[in-house]
Amino acid sequence: MNLILHVWRQKNANSSGHMVRYEARDINSHMSFLEMIDVVNEELIAKSEEPITFDHDCREGICGMCGFMINGVAHGPERGTTVCQLHMRHFKDGDELYLEPWRSRAFPVIKDLAVDRSAFDRIIAAGGYVSVRTGSAPEAGGILVPKENAELAMDAAACIGCGACVAMCPNGSAALFTGAKISHLGLLPQGQPERDQRAVDMVVQMTEEGFGHCTNIGECEAVCPKHIPIAVIARMHRHYLQASLAGRPR
Ligand code: SF4
Ligand code: FES
Repeated sequence: MNLILHVWRQKNANSSGHMVRYEARDINSHMSFLEMIDVVNEELIAKSEEPITFDHDCREGICGMCGFMINGVAHGPERGTTVCQLHMRHFKDGDELYLEPWRSRAFPVIKDLAVDRSAFDRIIAAGGYVSVRTGSAPEAGGILVPKENAELAMDAAACIGCGACVAMCPNGSAALFTGAKISHLGLLPQGQPERDQRAVDMVVQMTEEGFGHCTNIGECEAVCPKHIPIAVIARMHRHYLQASLAGRPR
């Protein structure tokens, strides 16, 4: 199949960007979206032109490195899918696609489709860990975890930190990401001692990074490749409120 691509090209965070039109020719429908861009890039390199920069690593949907907007939707038209797992069979011959980087004040563009998501790292560093020793395997059944909590914690732990939730949110909120991290620790026994303070520290950091407020729009949940539910945001607020009521704001 042949496609027309309009790709955001931007040298760095300080220069202004613009759309550039490319033709992607002879694309195999079994290719992933990133492999399709590889084909375009090989042509550009052969013509001594600058290839399109985009982030990627595992290409298996598990590392969270890839991601950009395809026709205004984070990770493209297939639900529950990262761009590295999005296959070209979901597009038609002759389709015209607009590729843009994540748009958020807290995610400055590094180059073309790649953005700086180190703000997420700083949110994790603010409290996304447990201080107790967890290095060795515990005795089976030594710490009992209710099945429902174990499953909710596992669901929240599926977050890969891709940033699609932020990119799709009209407020540029990182509440789904932060709520997922707070939930996956806060639902397990090892995460209890620091649970409420963790919520305060991570929420404060999230605000300081320039992410917007959540107003329950739900676009984040709709594009999340790991189906993180917005219930994690309610849990984040609950833990934050509990810390505030206990007089423990940062
Ligand atoms: S909550 Fe979903 S969309 Fe947001 S960073 Fe995690 S995996 Fe990506
Ligand atoms: S490259 Fe790892 S999730 Fe897409």
